[in-house]
Amino acid sequence: MSRLFDTLGRRALFLFDPETAHGLSIKGLKSGLVPTCRPAADPRLEQVVAGIRFANPLGMAAGYDKNAEVPDQLLGLGFGFAEVGTLTPLPQAGNPKPRMFRLEGERGVINRLGFNNEGHAAALLRLKARRGEGVVGVNIGANKDSADRIADYVLGIRAFYDVATYFTVNISSPNTPGLRDLQARASLAELLAAVLAARKEEAGRSGRSVPVFLKIAPDLTPDGMDDIAAEVLSHPLDGLIISNTTLSREGVCDPQAKEAGGLSGTPLFIRSTAVLAAMRKRLGPDLPIIGVGGVSSAETALEKIRAGAHLVQLYSCMVYEGPGLPGRIVRGLSALMEREGVSSIADLRGSKTDYWAEKA
Ligand SMILES: Cc1cc2nc3c(=O)[nH]c(=O)nc-3n(C[C@H](O)[C@H](O)[C@H](O)COP(=O)(O)O)c2cc1C
Repeated sequence: MSRLFDTLGRRALFLFDPETAHGLSIKGLKSGLVPTCRPAADPRLEQVVAGIRFANPLGMAAGYDKNAEVPDQLLGLGFGFAEVGTLTPLPQAGNPKPRMFRLEGERGVINRLGFNNEGHAAALLRLKARRGEGVVGVNIGANKDSADRIADYVLGIRAFYDVATYFTVNISSPNTPGLRDLQARASLAELLAAVLAARKEEAGRSGRSVPVFLKIAPDLTPDGMDDIAAEVLSHPLDGLIISNTTLSREGVCDPQAKEAGGLSGTPLFIRSTAVLAAMRKRLGPDLPIIGVGGVSSAETALEKIRAGAHLVQLYSCMVYEGPGLPGRIVRGLSALMEREGVSSIADLRGSKTDYWAEKA
């Protein structure tokens, strides 16, 4: 896909407020107006992670396709996997608008959407109707007013078990009051036990064990990271996604930075990569980690892998770079493999974990 298409598309979409522009981009993907550009298969980028075969290590992060409207179109842009959601059992409207802001000079985004989504039933119908076979993860959450948040995650596992390639248990959105408290050790132990027991039951019924990842915040203290690592290692969890958006505004000058909500994009890159490396050191070399936060190029994607990630995801930088970005990153990764002279991207994993962990 040409850079001209991306530049013109961005100019047009930036005439609208960010949430309207997001809706138009989904419509564009649905209508087929956006050309697909799947990069040529490159065996050096293929990996099996948590038992799933990924054609390349770049995924679409949660929050773009909240209602599972366009997962196959996203795969058509060159992503090796797409994550839909966050989905809550019941539909909910989210916070009052405006609730999404561009920090243009710094290539960042602030959102306080608050899990606006159409709920399990609507997304399930769409996922059941999918004809594509690519990797689609389902990110599950809890309704804001739920009396039993853990039960909401269990409902998510049960509802989407037959259509999800993997699950993400999202306890790190800063926009649902109290949600991040589930990262505290006792609550996390209870949540993981309930979710993984539901997975075990569903696996027994269906004969297929669907991997479960846990998505965490980048705003953790060293003690908080220790607690999460201890719980993760004592449960049969398949991996971590690091990280969600940050509440920090450190080093951000854009006037929009005063808006409440989670910050993502380029200003999140260092913080999220440092937490990823710090967790990699706590978890050992093997547990799958998906690195997210500020990925904007093949170089930044590879840096997450060098920090210890198996796979990476992005969202915010596509707002600035357009739908051609995933294809460019995947082709760029192939070029970097050529330059490094390695036969598998996995060979570069963790080569800079110590360097990044020191920044945490
Ligand atoms: C507008 C917006 C909405 C998001 N919604 C969700 C969500 O529903 N669930 C979730 O787990 N993460 C959500 N995220 C977080 C992203 O998945 C990702 O973790 C974060 O933005 C960092 O990646 P990035 O810098 O590439 O955007 C959202 C991010 C943005 C910008």
